[in-house]
Amino acid sequence: MSSQKSNSLPKKIVIVGGGIIGCTTAYYLSHHPSYRSDIDEITILEASTTGVAQGASGKAGGLVAKWAYPRELVDVSFPEHVRLAELHNGTERWGWRYVNCGSWKGRGEDDPSLANPGSGVGDGGDKTNLEKTAGLGDPNLERRGLPDDLHWVKESLTDSYSPMAGDGETAQVHPYLFTTSMLELAQSKGVKLRLGAIAGPIAFDETNVTGVFYQTLTTPMEFVPATHAILCAGPWTPNILPSVPVKATRAHSIVIQPQPDVQISPYVLFTEIDVPKRIGGKSASPEIYARPNNEVYACGPGDKSPLPYFVDHVKVDDAACEAIFQHVASISPELRAGTVVKKQACFLATVKKGKLGGPIVGPAPRMAGGYYIATGHTCWGICNAPGTAKVLTEHIYEGKITSANLSELAPSRYASTL
Ligand SMILES: Cc1cc2nc3c(=O)[nH]c(=O)nc-3n(C[C@H](O)[C@H](O)[C@H](O)COP(=O)(O)OP(=O)(O)OC[C@H]3O[C@@H](n4cnc5c(N)ncnc54)[C@H](O)[C@@H]3O)c2cc1C
Ligand SMILES: *[C@@H]1O[C@H](CO)[C@@H](O)[C@H](O)[C@H]1NC(C)=O
Ligand SMILES: *[C@@H]1O[C@H](CO)[C@@H](O)[C@H](O)[C@H]1NC(C)=O
Ligand SMILES: *[C@@H]1O[C@H](CO)[C@@H](O)[C@H](O)[C@H]1NC(C)=O
Repeated sequence: MSSQKSNSLPKKIVIVGGGIIGCTTAYYLSHHPSYRSDIDEITILEASTTGVAQGASGKAGGLVAKWAYPRELVDVSFPEHVRLAELHNGTERWGWRYVNCGSWKGRGEDDPSLANPGSGVGDGGDKTNLEKTAGLGDPNLERRGLPDDLHWVKESLTDSYSPMAGDGETAQVHPYLFTTSMLELAQSKGVKLRLGAIAGPIAFDETNVTGVFYQTLTTPMEFVPATHAILCAGPWTPNILPSVPVKATRAHSIVIQPQPDVQISPYVLFTEIDVPKRIGGKSASPEIYARPNNEVYACGPGDKSPLPYFVDHVKVDDAACEAIFQHVASISPELRAGTVVKKQACFLATVKKGKLGGPIVGPAPRMAGGYYIATGHTCWGICNAPGTAKVLTEHIYEGKITSANLSELAPSRYASTL
């Protein structure tokens, strides 16, 4: 350890939000060579009383793709995912693997076991697309028949299947296990987690951050002194700092456990299904993710249900989950015979300002020295968490961001006060 490092002032870093962005940032900070576990303090404040990853970070699909967006963050994040998986046994620990990914078009089967679950859009109404494939632009994808090993969707219902990217360009993690692993590895280096801590506001003097206020459901306002505060409260970020232009979209998802004798080959499918009249007609576009533990995750469209104040109060609309199951079941007898083991909903954060799509990542120097923002990761926060965490860590421990040019994502681009 150089004398300069050991002489510099202790860092007291408070991370607001225990989603994938907050937990991965805690991991990178606590694994930086300049971090001194005996002097520096890193604390995660998480509003949920249950644990971390209770929002979108525990309920996402988990795709990690070279063709995700924005480019500048993906180019750092993808190789970091590969490195983390190698370093920490990610294959075993959080289900890291490369996966086939394709766009599937076809018809749902009019099977008597299926029934109309209603509109299939969550009770917030106003179906919205999660826009995960926007990063592909408008590629001239080669249309092919169903791959031989994709045996769990019915060939006779398939109009077309197009691979979305080449081999080695798409991978996946189990997002809950990735997030909790990042937390555990950070805690092994001394990072502290406070659950049930609803943070805000962040305090600062003329120049710098001085601390973070928080309250619990049972205690009055408390204060943690801090030299650095990182705001990564996902869609809740504007509750703490209203000038952050982020809005919240709810999405439902389910997990299906197939019958024990059914092996699910590793495919992620972006579907476009002509839904039979029996289950509502129209078209549906669930995303379907095979997972290494042989479970299958599927998510539906977004809706406009208002964001509750607290992650533990997010409501699940059963009909929306049932619709996802019916749609998926209509193209796959294997999944139709499976059991729905999870019905869940969560909110993702999208950036609502003009054409600036986000995410918003970096220091907010007009707020105060030591004030950082990392939110608005839309449908790619699982993929982009390592890159986000790495650049924040560089800025905090090395004084500037070196592994990417993030000028397009800088908070100051999104509001004149940031
Ligand atoms: C259906 C669906 C599928 C998705 N699939 C993928 C995918 O395949 N690949 C991919 O890359 N991304 C995917 N995403 C996106 C990904 O889930 C998000 O981008 C990511 O989880 C955002 O993480 P976060 O940490 O910013 O936010 P969150 O996970 O929302 O975490 C924010 C945390 O902050 C806490 N918090 C809020 N306010 C406070 C406060 N005042 N004090 C303390 N704590 C607070 C919350 O309780 C929460 O735990 C998907 C999203 C959805 C909805
Ligand atoms: C990774 O996990 C596998 C299976 O549990 C185990 O055999 C292997 O030793 C682990 N490797 C490391 C580096 O922990
Ligand atoms: C603000 O932070 C900077 C950088 O850490 C430091 O040099 C400066 O002394 C701080 N200012 C005050 C008033 O504490
Ligand atoms: C970073 O990118 C912006 C625009 O995207 C450009 O104007 C700027 O010159 C770049 N900075 C560096 C150091 O390359």
